[in-house]
Amino acid sequence: MSRFTSICLGFILMMVSCDERDSNPTFSHDIAKIIYHNCSPCHRPNQIGHFNLLTYTDVKTNANKILYTVKNRLMPPWPADPHYTSFVGEKVLTEKEVGLIETWVKQSCPVGDSSQIPALPTFPIGSMLGTPDLHIPVKPIRLQGNYTDRFLVIKVPFEVPRDSFVSMVEFVPGNTKVVHHVNGDLVRFEFDKKKDVYDGSLVDNLVWDSTIRLVYKKIGLLHDDGSYPTLARSVVNYLPGVIAQKYPEGIGGWKVNRKSAFVLADIHYGPTVDDVWDSSYINIFYAKSIPKRPLQEFQLGTLGVSSIVPPLIIAPDKISTYHSSCTITNDISILTINPHMHLLGKSFWAYALTPEHDTIRLIKIPHWDFNWQNFYTFKKMLKIPAGSTIYIEGVFDNTRDNPYNPNNPPKEVHDNNGSMRTTDEMFQFIITYLPYEEGDENISLE
Ligand code: HEC
Repeated sequence: MSRFTSICLGFILMMVSCDERDSNPTFSHDIAKIIYHNCSPCHRPNQIGHFNLLTYTDVKTNANKILYTVKNRLMPPWPADPHYTSFVGEKVLTEKEVGLIETWVKQSCPVGDSSQIPALPTFPIGSMLGTPDLHIPVKPIRLQGNYTDRFLVIKVPFEVPRDSFVSMVEFVPGNTKVVHHVNGDLVRFEFDKKKDVYDGSLVDNLVWDSTIRLVYKKIGLLHDDGSYPTLARSVVNYLPGVIAQKYPEGIGGWKVNRKSAFVLADIHYGPTVDDVWDSSYINIFYAKSIPKRPLQEFQLGTLGVSSIVPPLIIAPDKISTYHSSCTITNDISILTINPHMHLLGKSFWAYALTPEHDTIRLIKIPHWDFNWQNFYTFKKMLKIPAGSTIYIEGVFDNTRDNPYNPNNPPKEVHDNNGSMRTTDEMFQFIITYLPYEEGDENISLE
C-alpha cells in the first residue's frame, strides 16, 4: 500500500469513528463540555438561570426542556443572527452541537464512562477580569417580593487620590437572581465645584415621567452652582453572562476625576416573590498609561445625530417600521455597537453602504428580546470609509400578539424625548468607534 493510500485510509477510518461517536453521544464524552461551556456560567447557584446545569443528573432531569430551548435557539440567549455578523463572546451552539444534544436526548441520555466526565470549570468570583484596584459598593437595595420589575437610577459616588485613567470598569451583581441589567455613565465633578460627592439621594425610581436632567437634579449629580459636570456615557454595563469588554492596551479607557460618581441609569431588577436584598459593587482597574486612543461614541435615532423616519409615534394594533440613517464624513473604526429598543421592539437591522455601494454588515436581530440587550463587539475593528451611510431599520409590534406589550388594549406609544420609562419606546443605535488609523482592520478585539 502506498503512503498516500494509507493516509487516505487512515482519514476515512477517522471519519467513520467520528460519525459513530456523533450517532452515539454520551454525557461524559460529548454533552458535558457543551453544557459547561455554554450553559453552566448562568445555570449554577447564585446566578440568573433559575435551575442548575452542573451535574449529569441536572442535565438529564431537564433534558426535554434543554432540547426544546436549544433547538429553538432560545438558549443560550444570543439574539443577533450569527450568520449575518459575528462578535466577541458570541454564545451560539453549532448545528453539530444541537444535533448531538438531540440524538443524546432521543437515546435516553446515556452517561457513557462516568469516570471520564470532565471536571467542572472553576467559575470566577468577585471579578471576571482579575484583581481590581478599587472596589466601590453600590447602595444596598431592598426589593419587595411583589413580583414586579423595577427600574432604578442609583448614584455611586466615589473619590480617588488624584485624577486618573481607568482601563476597565466592571459591574458585579450582588444578587444575580434579581439584577437583570445595568447601564451606567461616569460623572466627573470639577473639584472646586462639588463640596460633597455623597450629597443628595442615592436612588431614584423610574416610574414617573423622568428625563435624565430631572433625575440628575434629584439625586445630587449637579455641581453646587447648578451646572452640569462632564459625563462619559455607557462606562459600566452589565448583562447576565456578558463579561466587561477589555480593549487592547492604549485603546479606550476613561478619565476619572478626584471626585466622581457612577450613575446607574438604569438598573433593572427583575421580579421576585420573596423580599430580597441586593448588594452589588463596581470594580475599577487603572490604566497603565494614558490611553492613546480614547473611545468616541455617537448614536442614531432617539436622542441621536439622525432623526427617525417617520417620527416614532407607534400606532396601536399595527406592526410598523422605522428608519434612520446618517452619513459619516471621516474614516472610522467601529469597535462595539448597541441596538436599543423597548418592549414593542420586534426586529432590528443595521448596515452601512459605502460610496462605492458596497454593503458592510453591522447587525441583524430577527427577534428582538428586551431582556437580552447586548453590547456587541466586533472580533476585529471594522473600518467604515468616509462618505458611507449607516442605515438602521426597526420594526415595532404594537398589537395584542406581542406578549410584552405593556398596554392592553394596545395604545399609541411615543419616544417622548428620551423619557426613561420602559413603557415609552426608543429606537437607538449606539456606535463606539475611533478615528480610523492604518492597520486598524487587523487589530483583534478578542
Ligand atoms: C446568559 C445566561 C444564560 C445562559 C448562558 C444560558 N441560560 Fe438558560 N436561562 C437563563 C435565564 C435567565 C433563564 C430564565 C429566563 C428566560 O427564560 O429568559 C433561562 C431559562 C432556561 C430554561 C428554562 C425554560 C423554561 O421554560 O423553564 C432552559 C431549559 C435553559 N435555560 C437551558 C439552557 C441551556 C441548555 C443553556 C446552554 C446551551 C442555557 N440555558 C444557557 C440564562 C441563561
